[in-house]
Amino acid sequence: MVSLEPSAAEMRRLVEEALERIIGHIESLPTQPASRVGGAVRLARTLGEPLPEQGTPFHQLLDLLFRRAIPASLNAAGPGYLGYIPGGGLFHAAVADLISDAVNRYTGISVGAPALVRLEANVLDWLRDIAGFPPETRGLLTSGGSLSTLIAVVTARRERLPENFLRGTLYVSDQTHHALAKSAVVAGFPAANVRLVPSDRHFRLRLDALTAQISEDRRRGFTPFFVGGNAGTTNTGAVDPLPELAALARREGLWFHVDGAYGGFFRLTEEGRRTLSGMELADSLVLDPHKSLFLPYGTGALLVRDGAALRRTHSAVADYLPPVREDPLLPDFAEMSPELTRPYRGLRLWLPIKLLGIAPFRDALQEKLDLAREAAEAVHRLPGIEMVAPPELSLFAFRRNRPGLSTAELNRLNTDFLKRINARKRVFLTGTRLHGRFTLRMCILSFRTHRDRVEMALEDIAAALDD
Ligand SMILES: Cc1ncc(COP(=O)(O)O)c(C=O)c1O
Repeated sequence: MVSLEPSAAEMRRLVEEALERIIGHIESLPTQPASRVGGAVRLARTLGEPLPEQGTPFHQLLDLLFRRAIPASLNAAGPGYLGYIPGGGLFHAAVADLISDAVNRYTGISVGAPALVRLEANVLDWLRDIAGFPPETRGLLTSGGSLSTLIAVVTARRERLPENFLRGTLYVSDQTHHALAKSAVVAGFPAANVRLVPSDRHFRLRLDALTAQISEDRRRGFTPFFVGGNAGTTNTGAVDPLPELAALARREGLWFHVDGAYGGFFRLTEEGRRTLSGMELADSLVLDPHKSLFLPYGTGALLVRDGAALRRTHSAVADYLPPVREDPLLPDFAEMSPELTRPYRGLRLWLPIKLLGIAPFRDALQEKLDLAREAAEAVHRLPGIEMVAPPELSLFAFRRNRPGLSTAELNRLNTDFLKRINARKRVFLTGTRLHGRFTLRMCILSFRTHRDRVEMALEDIAAALDD
């Protein structure tokens, strides 16, 4: 009978064989195509199979993964990934995952593994300090920005609205990530209660429009309770007027939320700190370590200024659980979030930061700011290019423009432009619609993207201009 408990030799063999493939894969990242999705769906359709009764040799499974399934994808961990918001894939975090999965300690309630919970609480304290939040802040590590946003919206709803909350309205700019509107709907609000406030020509929320919408809603008997600002939008990296939004939220008695999923960690740099001024005034802040701290997918974070609000929103008792204590040094994450059982997420942040220090993360973020600025200047110098949104952080948006073409013709020209850039497979860019116009964007955020790759991007953009 096959045992579920491998011997020491077997464990070593499994890890070594996997590691061999992983290292080969990581070392070849710079030469892998930026995307290899042609045929990927066809391959995917061949992979369905019934529940296997018997096992398969490990090397065959590794072959399936590393030779077939992994290559047939967008190379989201490679240096050429400049689309959407690049994720990371820091190897040190993967090692941390192996440790935390293998030891499998329970960290939902602190008595299960107090020392491990304390290490995760250290991470949250570090995030609080990076964000410039006060000591009474409490935080959570989540699976990503969307879940952090949902927890923030539910917490704000419970803090600011009565049990019957259907007249409550939320305000965000028309550039805000759809995670916010989705969270509001999942939290029980009618979709129309999320007011999309127009953005200005820099794609920042318009305060005049916000103020007008709030008064109009009050007049119509709604209860404005939540305003969200962006610390770097997904479309263009726009940073909303955060200090003004904080002041308006205070005046109007609204919960002030900031989405720093993409941009928040740039606060580690001097330049980012200036750009993101006002973020530290938020009632809740979403950060995404799996974006701008370069972690593998699966780690978001939420900070709540009045930390006790998280407990007021999520605390629940059950006879089969040990009594919970309120110890600020040893948080019970199950009491502060929707999750009871959770992976030990703290280690994938704690280990890299302890091992390397925060300095290399700061340096990498500064490098991305510099590269984006230089790349945007170079793109702007190309003939027939309109810089739609210069970088405020490490993301900018641009498009081809030709006098005399209609919007539809320009959109087609730019869709084709994007295809031609990506066809060379050295970089992968994505587009978006900005105030109705199809626009290309370049987001430089991977810790593996350096000047050499940005130069390739510039060459490929210039080449794609040749009609
Ligand atoms: C600004 C912003 N907010 C929220 C999210 C949602 O985060 P996640 O994809 O981690 O759920 C994203 C994802 O790209 C984002 O860019």
